[in-house]
Amino acid sequence: MNPQNCDNKSNICSCSVFNALSFATDIFEKIKTGHAKRVAYTSLKLASQLNMPIADMNRLFNAAILHDVGIGFGINEAYQEDREYNKVEHVKKGASIVSEFFHDQDITDAVRYHHENFDGSGYLGVRGADIPLFAGIIHLANYLDTIFERRTTYSEARKENQAAILKQSGILFDPLHVEAFIEMTSAERFWLDYRHENFDAMLERIISNNQIKIELDDLIKVAYVFSKMIDDKSKFTQKHSRNVALYMRETAKMKLFDEETQKKAYIAGLFHDIGKVSTPSSILDKPGPLSLEERSHIKVHSYYTRLILDHIPNIEDIARWASNHHEFINGTGYPERLKGDELDYFSRLITVCDIYEALSENRPYRKALSYEEAWQTIHEMRDENALCPEACRDLKGLTDIMTFNKNESTL
Ligand SMILES: [Fe+2]
Ligand SMILES: [Fe+2]
Ligand SMILES: [Fe+2]
Repeated sequence: MNPQNCDNKSNICSCSVFNALSFATDIFEKIKTGHAKRVAYTSLKLASQLNMPIADMNRLFNAAILHDVGIGFGINEAYQEDREYNKVEHVKKGASIVSEFFHDQDITDAVRYHHENFDGSGYLGVRGADIPLFAGIIHLANYLDTIFERRTTYSEARKENQAAILKQSGILFDPLHVEAFIEMTSAERFWLDYRHENFDAMLERIISNNQIKIELDDLIKVAYVFSKMIDDKSKFTQKHSRNVALYMRETAKMKLFDEETQKKAYIAGLFHDIGKVSTPSSILDKPGPLSLEERSHIKVHSYYTRLILDHIPNIEDIARWASNHHEFINGTGYPERLKGDELDYFSRLITVCDIYEALSENRPYRKALSYEEAWQTIHEMRDENALCPEACRDLKGLTDIMTFNKNESTL
């Protein structure tokens, strides 16, 4: 990604994108929401106390906000119960995820080594000065958040947590970091912010001068990485998001929409199921019919897609198209039961793309439908006024060409 200043009014800022993804991890973890934000807050405060240059603090923010991304997106919940496996695996997965779009070794190392102890007793056995600076800072910030008790008053919190961190000087943490932590947390402000979670304004103040603007092409790279991970949650959806994205982009191209709209349609397709971070793979892979509760669990995902993407200002159209992919024009879809004109062209199109791709995939309870069977089903839904005739016609036109080309190339 090319660092370039961002005015936050019309541009897409990298911080908001990573904030959205950390929120997605929160949804997955269910228990301590806001964990990544709190860790970012303490990390930046500590870095400032250590006189870190502002440009580095921006990179530290990215590392801290994504430090546990390997939990939400990397680990199949078959391993959720296995704590030992999770510990080591979440840092490795997280590091490989962030390395795919940052190409910044310090950020990758921060995620990989954020559970390394100063005395060498951490997950990967790195010790002392060999622990990268960002990782050491995030480790301390992360530890604070795991021991912090919200019910205590701010003065109790200061006393208890300072004592707990001090006890780990030279064991879990670099004594220099502990010293800086004690210094910076003697001010009431830190604990007042921490208890009341006044982070947004504070984080904004620290990094706003150095926001990084990203282009749609960068967002495509990030969305692509996360779409792969969402699709990997189930063996039945291996290329689902990427195919939906492809149909969206190619239909937009065929209809002569401008290049920006084509890219946005593509990103909406890549992101449309990101809310599935909340859906257990055991439900996605269940071989029989789903219970009522399991069905409602699945139905939440497009609502979560919206909540996640709403964290990114200035992509309203992408967020709308992505999260409307289970809405029907007769108002029988979910989660908003939108109907008719409330659904714009790409919201209608993504629903058809999603259904076409789903019908063309194997499911635990049925085999993939043939091309003709899939379109017969879609046309029946169109005739029941659930699907938009124009969107059906457009995608049919595209898939006719794609199928023809595929058959030609295998001749
Ligand atoms: Fe972690
Ligand atoms: Fe963490
Ligand atoms: Fe979906």
